[in-house]
Amino acid sequence: MNNFRICSTFAESCECKARIQAQSPNPKITAAGRNMKLVFATGNRGKLREAREILGPSFEIVTPADLDPEYVDPEENGTTFKENALIKAQAVWDKFHLPCFADDSGLQIDALGGRPGIYSARYAGEDKDFDCNIDKVLEELEGISQRSARFHTTVALILEDGTPHFFDGTLEGAIATERHGTLGFGYDPIFYPTAMPESTFGELGPEVKNQFSHREQALKEMTEFLSRTVLK
Ligand code: IMP
Repeated sequence: MNNFRICSTFAESCECKARIQAQSPNPKITAAGRNMKLVFATGNRGKLREAREILGPSFEIVTPADLDPEYVDPEENGTTFKENALIKAQAVWDKFHLPCFADDSGLQIDALGGRPGIYSARYAGEDKDFDCNIDKVLEELEGISQRSARFHTTVALILEDGTPHFFDGTLEGAIATERHGTLGFGYDPIFYPTAMPESTFGELGPEVKNQFSHREQALKEMTEFLSRTVLK
């Protein structure tokens, strides 16, 4: 659960933004960790940057490539966010036997029947080009006024005993008709979060996004779980 309500006017949305900025860094999350090392099963620099900012300095986040530059990501052939998150976390666990987590995420657009969904990274092709993916979405939505969408993340965490645990985050929003802003990664320049509907994530930037994004929600649940179990 997050504390944000829908802002219906520009003034309200400015107020929301100021409130969100004033809360940075997220005290709940930084209080939960106590110098825990976790391997984050990702090669996505945007996700890595966000996870480090969200989790704060109490967590040491390394990637599989930091541990082995030859590490090859597994094939993501699951049919759900949960299956793909587990595939990525399990591959890291099997190789390094270290506490690790993976994030499988994507954009679900209602007018496109939930696409690109689990195919968000490679929507316009296997080279996972953010710009081409955005172009494809904007083309498919041309002339369509119903532009509601959401980001979803499932995080899979594997601890010392090898048991997986799952955490989810979902953030409602709408798709712009063109790019706004250059901050963030992926679809950020075309995503207006419902809580701050005047600006895309590409304009809001990480300090604001990381206070209430889908990734923040899932990672917050993960740190709350860790503080109840291993860090208690
Ligand atoms: P994954 O590595 O298969 O989970 O791919 C997730 C893809 O979804 C990314 O490459 C982005 O295209 C998109 N995505 C996920 N989270 C975000 C976000 O927070 N902002 C923008 N795009 C995102």
